[in-house]
Amino acid sequence: MSLQWYPGHMTSARRMMQENIKLIDIVIEILDARIPYSSRNPDIDDLAKNKFRLIILNKSDMADKAVTDLWIKYYKEKDIACVALDARKTSSAAKIMTLVSDVCKEKIERDRKKGILNRPIKAMIVGIPNSGKSTFINSFAGKSYAKTGNKPGVTRGKQWIRAGKGMELLDTPGILWPKFEDQSVGMKLAITGAINDNILEMTELSSNLISYMQKYYCNNLMERYKIDESMSIETALSQVADVRKCIKKGNVPDLDRAARIIIDDFRSLKLGNISLERPDDIKG
Ligand code: G4P
Repeated sequence: MSLQWYPGHMTSARRMMQENIKLIDIVIEILDARIPYSSRNPDIDDLAKNKFRLIILNKSDMADKAVTDLWIKYYKEKDIACVALDARKTSSAAKIMTLVSDVCKEKIERDRKKGILNRPIKAMIVGIPNSGKSTFINSFAGKSYAKTGNKPGVTRGKQWIRAGKGMELLDTPGILWPKFEDQSVGMKLAITGAINDNILEMTELSSNLISYMQKYYCNNLMERYKIDESMSIETALSQVADVRKCIKKGNVPDLDRAARIIIDDFRSLKLGNISLERPDDIKG
């Protein structure tokens, strides 16, 4: 499977982040809870070093809660605050505000000692395309969404979005591009829909999804398509074509359509809440 690579975009996105990072107290990194490893660009560790950090496992409404809990534990063991979220919910904002205040409590205390009270915490939202950055900013800023304009001491032209009393978000989220070097990363980004469908090979994606689900979510496959863990991928695809009546001219199973159905069922949660990677899969 060949995937598009965008070095030009990546360089300018990285430059934007580097230019702004000095203005920021906390970097809020948004990952897809179904693929916390594959949706994470490791460059962020370098870009955000010496900053407070918060990792949001977004779209947690689509992931397997037990696996999401393992990821939260994984990051906590690395001393990085991490929380599961559905960014579309406005109630998420209060949850994040409390966490951000907790993560940044050293800074708040430092300010207090200098007699500075209620200085807003400045945050930058970062993540790969489609991880939910705009959704998060919109629900976080809520009705109070307002561009506060230039401020003394802040580089000219920079806009901040006021989010509640205590926080300001940089209006341009940092776009990190996924790292495709590892084939399985590209595969998972494609299955979840983070990469445009047109460039994808549906049969390859659905074959990978089936084989992963045979290992971890066999009951879900059995329930929806009567696929069991011992079936070959070819038989499993034919089985889906049969169950979902995908037949081509000449009474031949339409495997391409069956493959498309599997991916659509996954993305629309008809196959259940599924996480495509667990901390144990990751070395280090
Ligand atoms: P981005 O700025 O990082 O590129 O991502 P964006 O907010 O545009 O979100 C990408 C898609 O993910 C959107 O769906 C958005 O609604 C959805 N999304 C964001 N956060 C969550 C979440 O926590 N849970 C779920 N289930 N979905 C989420 P879309 O279909 O592309 O757009 P739309 O139909 O919602 O307008």
